[in-house]
Amino acid sequence: MAMIAHKCKGHTVTVVDINQARIDAWNSEELPIFEPGLDEIVKGCRGKTLFFSTDIDTAIREADIIFMSVNTPTKTYGVGAGRAADLRYIEKCARKIAEVAEDDKIVVEKSTLPVRTAESIKRILESNSKGRKFQVLSNPEFLAEGTAVADLENPDRVLIGGDQTPDGLAAIQKLVDVYAEWVPAENILTTNVWSSELSKLTANAFLAQRISSINAISALCEATGANVDEVAHAIGTDSRIGPKFLKSSVGFGGSCFQKDILNLVYLCDHFGVPEAATYWNGVIEMNDFQKHRFARRVVSTMFNTVSDKKIAVLGFAFKKDTNDTRESAAIYICKDLLDEQANVAIYDPKVPEAQMRRDLGLSESDTSITVCADAYEATKDAHAVLILTEWDEFTALDFKKIHDHMNLPAFLFDGRNLLDLDALRKIGFEASGIGRG
Ligand code: UGA
Repeated sequence: MAMIAHKCKGHTVTVVDINQARIDAWNSEELPIFEPGLDEIVKGCRGKTLFFSTDIDTAIREADIIFMSVNTPTKTYGVGAGRAADLRYIEKCARKIAEVAEDDKIVVEKSTLPVRTAESIKRILESNSKGRKFQVLSNPEFLAEGTAVADLENPDRVLIGGDQTPDGLAAIQKLVDVYAEWVPAENILTTNVWSSELSKLTANAFLAQRISSINAISALCEATGANVDEVAHAIGTDSRIGPKFLKSSVGFGGSCFQKDILNLVYLCDHFGVPEAATYWNGVIEMNDFQKHRFARRVVSTMFNTVSDKKIAVLGFAFKKDTNDTRESAAIYICKDLLDEQANVAIYDPKVPEAQMRRDLGLSESDTSITVCADAYEATKDAHAVLILTEWDEFTALDFKKIHDHMNLPAFLFDGRNLLDLDALRKIGFEASGIGRG
């Protein structure tokens, strides 16, 4: 929404939420999320074309286009628990719009939703229409965290799905006009609603599948002496495969990949294609395997025990340049190490201590982890260093200094293949990466 406000000076964008604290944070100097470039954009248009408010009713009444951007977590209860998307926030939103709107509205689903959700939103709106006309569009978002501003400024494509009726096509055109202020026309794709909804889930499933595929090969590389980065490079030069998203890692995290694949798995089952459900579920199983495999390798390399040993964990976010830790591989790896009774010292440049403790289910006073102010404090007297997020600053660390204040042998496990292992070995580290036999 900030990008729309930034690019489309003729429009007013009002972001509303029931959470006063969150809205206050968006109106303050300290924005509630860290995303490179976002501060400048928000602060540049706040109070001019971009507003943050808790006055939901007024915002609905005044809007021509309403974007529904509420969260759709995996259901934790009832039918489809653990797989289906929980749509209660979406439904509440639709009912609110139906209750408050006084004239025709275009309602855009921005949240990632199961296929055919637009249909339910439409039914809720239409059953309460009182003469007003509602058009429901699907406009999934493809930005990635850490590069959100660049992705929004220069999207590979914008996807807009809508009813293929005259009213539906007119609504699609209205939204196309918003994006056309900065996105080239050929990059704005229009489809029917269901294709758009399904494309979002499919895009994330394909992206995650590439990571699980290369991670599956990384395990084989470790067993055979091949180098997974060399394999990725070699296959990536095939123009049909392409080089992106083939970086082997401790496993993918983030709020979307796992949730969206679980949702896809549920839909495949629900619509009677269990074979497809099993196929996509394999992507998640491989990711779980990769996370636990990394922790197991740390333990087995360190003489089968990390009990009472200090393990320095560098990086807790699910990727660099974000403070988001949702589904971060670091959570699972730290939990495995804590189960093995290690003392875990964590440093991340952007993730606050309270968030780490919440993610690990530890109270403020629990001493099994220490959260450190920098990488040197975390590694002092440590038996091993684990790189779990690919923050740029980790490449600039003084590893000689780190080695000299660690317990020997000094183990280093690079879960992101970020560092030059040969250089580290020359310093004296027992260094290993992912997929390097
Ligand atoms: C992902 C998609 O890339 C976006 O297109 C999509 O819009 C977004 O989900 C969403 O649905 O909201 P995001 O989760 O922000 O974006 O970040 P990614 O760059 O996709 O990274 C996801 C995870 O995969 C990270 O843990 C990252 O470290 C890992 N990854 C990524 C790898 O392990 N290897 C790779 O080659 C690429």
